[in-house]
Amino acid sequence: MTTPPSFTKEYHSKLYPSIQPNRPEISAKGKVVLVTGAGSGIGRETAITLAKADAKIIILCSRRTPLLGETKKQIKGLGNNSTVLVFQLDISNETSVNQVFDRATQEAGTIGIVVNSAALSTTPDPLKDVSSAEFWKSFEMNPKGGFHVSQAFPRTNSPSPSSPKTLLYFSTKVDHPLCSQSAFAAPGYCISKLSLAKLVEGLAFQNLGHLRVYMLHPGAVRTGMTDTMLAASRYPEALKNALTGDDVEVPAGFVLWLVSMHGECVPSGKLWWINWDVDELEKRVEKLENAYLLTVGMMGWPFVYILDVYMVVNNCHCMRASIRHRQMV
Ligand SMILES: NC(=O)c1ccc[n+]([C@@H]2O[C@H](COP(=O)([O-])OP(=O)(O)OC[C@H]3O[C@@H](n4cnc5c(N)ncnc54)[C@H](OP(=O)(O)O)[C@@H]3O)[C@@H](O)[C@H]2O)c1
Repeated sequence: MTTPPSFTKEYHSKLYPSIQPNRPEISAKGKVVLVTGAGSGIGRETAITLAKADAKIIILCSRRTPLLGETKKQIKGLGNNSTVLVFQLDISNETSVNQVFDRATQEAGTIGIVVNSAALSTTPDPLKDVSSAEFWKSFEMNPKGGFHVSQAFPRTNSPSPSSPKTLLYFSTKVDHPLCSQSAFAAPGYCISKLSLAKLVEGLAFQNLGHLRVYMLHPGAVRTGMTDTMLAASRYPEALKNALTGDDVEVPAGFVLWLVSMHGECVPSGKLWWINWDVDELEKRVEKLENAYLLTVGMMGWPFVYILDVYMVVNNCHCMRASIRHRQMV
């Protein structure tokens, strides 16, 4: 596999010491975490990694409960003290999401972290061959499902400055302009993930200090989803390089680091690649605060926009934004 250009000097495809679940500094002890898509792939490995790092309660959700049962079995096999709860969830259905969050908070108490790994693979066909139904299915999962979670999580767990919460979404590298051509390879999936970027930015912007919201590109990990895409592809050999090569422990370990005190330096509302070296990120904290860094936007427009936003959060949310446009020299 060719290593893509990286934001950090080190680019990881394998687990490394700083994100290992046995590292005491990033322990998940006492944490209550809900993982969607926890019955397979990256969601399953994330749940297992959090258990290895001593999370107090791990809530596993997706549609196929036998797969969730298997994840639970693997966690129990670790022999540690994490409590595991299982809920059937269809993220595209608002009622299902609300019911799961209601029941999960009743049983587990306050949930501090949600990892949204649920996703659907779509056929990697050119735009002209994709059916409307297939195209729209991805939008039901990504922006719509992501939106449901973005409402149900704060409603049931009241994030506040004294008790901030964390919400993670997995996205894809197509958000990067140089990779955006692949949007034409799996259009519904990629274009819907791109729209998720703006949901994440908006959530972070409107919940500063309350809710940390992140989008993560989880690397190129061989899972059920990538296998389905490869099997359906007309060019499997070409696609294989783009879809495989990173170990599943790397996104899981990055999530563990991000939700720890060490990851608190990472600004909310942006897209991070899990391959980037966390020690280098920690050393560059001040430089990461730039509002436009690692966000999705329009290139080539010769202006810088400065947003001064004053948010008054009383009973209602009132936002006053003044926008000054400044021409770049
Ligand atoms: N693997 C990669 O290289 C790669 C690259 C870029 C981005 N990603 C992203 O990483 C995340 C994890 O993907 P993965 O590779 O681990 O794929 P995966 O193994 O197929 O996991 C996807 C999970 O989503 C669940 N799901 C599907 N529809 C759902 C629904 N309507 N409601 C609730 N859960 C649903 C599935 O379980 P059920 O069918 O039982 O519901 C499944 O467990 C996804 O967001 C994906 O887009 C992966």
